This record gives sequence, C-alpha cells and structure tokens, in this order.
Amino acid sequence: MARADLQKKPAEVASMFDAVGKRYDITNTVMTAGLDGYWRRRITKRLAPRPGERVLDLAAGTAISTIALADNGAWCVACDFSRGMLKAGAHRPVPKVCGDGMHLPFADESFDAVTITWGLRNINDPAAGLREMARVTKPGGRLTVAEFSTPAWAPLAAVYKNLVLAALPGIARAASSNPEAYVYLAESIRAWPDQEALARLINTNGWVDCGWQNLTGGIAAMHSARKPD
Ligand SMILES: C[S@@+](CC[C@H](N)C(=O)[O-])C[C@H]1O[C@@H](n2cnc3c(N)ncnc32)[C@H](O)[C@@H]1O
Repeated sequence: MARADLQKKPAEVASMFDAVGKRYDITNTVMTAGLDGYWRRRITKRLAPRPGERVLDLAAGTAISTIALADNGAWCVACDFSRGMLKAGAHRPVPKVCGDGMHLPFADESFDAVTITWGLRNINDPAAGLREMARVTKPGGRLTVAEFSTPAWAPLAAVYKNLVLAALPGIARAASSNPEAYVYLAESIRAWPDQEALARLINTNGWVDCGWQNLTGGIAAMHSARKPD
C-alpha cells in the first residue's frame, strides 16, 4: 500500500490519501479517541465564518471539515488534490474542487477566510502553501490553521511523542484501509514545528498577527492570522 515519507512528494501524498479515503472519517475518530468532532467545533468557532462570506477549506479531504464550517450560512468550498478523498466525501453538500494547495485554482483575493485543518503538515512546501493561501484571500481576510503540535507540559509531551505516536500504526491496523499511512502520520507529527515556530512561519509568509490556542493541552493547536490590509 502507498505511503509517503518526509520528502512529501505530492504524487505520493495524494496517492496515500486516495488509499485511505473510504475509511478516513472513521479512522480519524478512532485515532483521536473521539476528539475530532470537538476539535472541529473549536476550529469553526475560531475561524468564525459569517453568513454570506466565501470560505476556502484547503486540504479538505472528505469535506468533513468543510461542512462543519458551512453550518451558519457561509459559502464554503472544499479543495484537495486527492480525488479518492473528495470522492469519499461526495455525499457532503458543499462544492468540491480538485486542486493543489501550492497552485490554487482560484483568483487573487477571492475569499474572506481560509482554513486548513490537519493539512499544512502534508504540503510539500508549507511556506509556499501559506503564501498561496494569502494570494487568494482578500486584504484583511482571516486564516486558521489546525495541526498536531507540541504539548505544553513536558511529561505529556514525552508520553505523546514516545508512546502515543509509536502506538498509532498499531491502532490504525484495526481501522484504516492503509495502516502504513499512519507510520507517515507519526513521522510527520514528530518532525513538525512547535507552536512558536509555526507562528513564525505563518508571519513570514503572507500573514500578520499570528496567535494560537492549544487544543487538548497542545496535542494540537489552532493558529490564526490575518492578511495585511
Ligand atoms: C489529514 S487530511 C485532512 C482532511 C480534512 N481537512 C480534515 O480536517 O479531516 C490531509 C489532506 O491534505 C491533502 N493535501 C496534502 N497536500 C495537499 C496539497 N498540496 N494540495 C491539496 N491538498 C493536499 C491530502 O490529500 C489530504 O486529503
């Protein structure tokens, strides 16, 4: 079965996600011990999409993240480069576009807000992805990034990085159609910048005023910023 590595070659990442698409949603719930729904509600609250706004959900996968944003009347579009993931979410009533986050198929300044949940880590060049998201966002528009991160309390960080991440592939064997993909998941989380470093990356690639809020002690974090006026 296909799995990507830390080079994150776009074709390998896309085909790895193609292979997990059908069971992605349920595997996600199992792997996060049911925290995924709670995290999505927190992310929607932080981005605060308003009725009439145009919102881009990049790396939307099965569009499970997109419908959570569209609840209160914003027009939300799901964009992802894995056709398998988009197809697995075909039943979800939001527009879906197959596109690469490094070359988005949208005009400059076409969205009020952009979000990417558990996706930035998988983009081959996250800095280029952030600049591309800024390009399609209106001046003053908002960004929210949700990603796995570094627990603030050192003992929890040690347990998380050494035990939980090591156990992920085993847990995935019970739920996923491509358990190997979860070896990549653990590797990519270990190599991902902590909260402060990610805020710096965001602030130096098209965005300003980046701040963050931890989720579940810092196992994940939501970073928000705005595009300069
Ligand atoms: C872990 S899933 C996240 C799906 C969804 N946002 C969620 O919250 O569950 C990561 C997604 O990122 C997508 N992805 C990775 N690199 C991408 C890129 N360069 N352009 C578009 N999508 C990308 C993958 O295809 C995959 O569907």
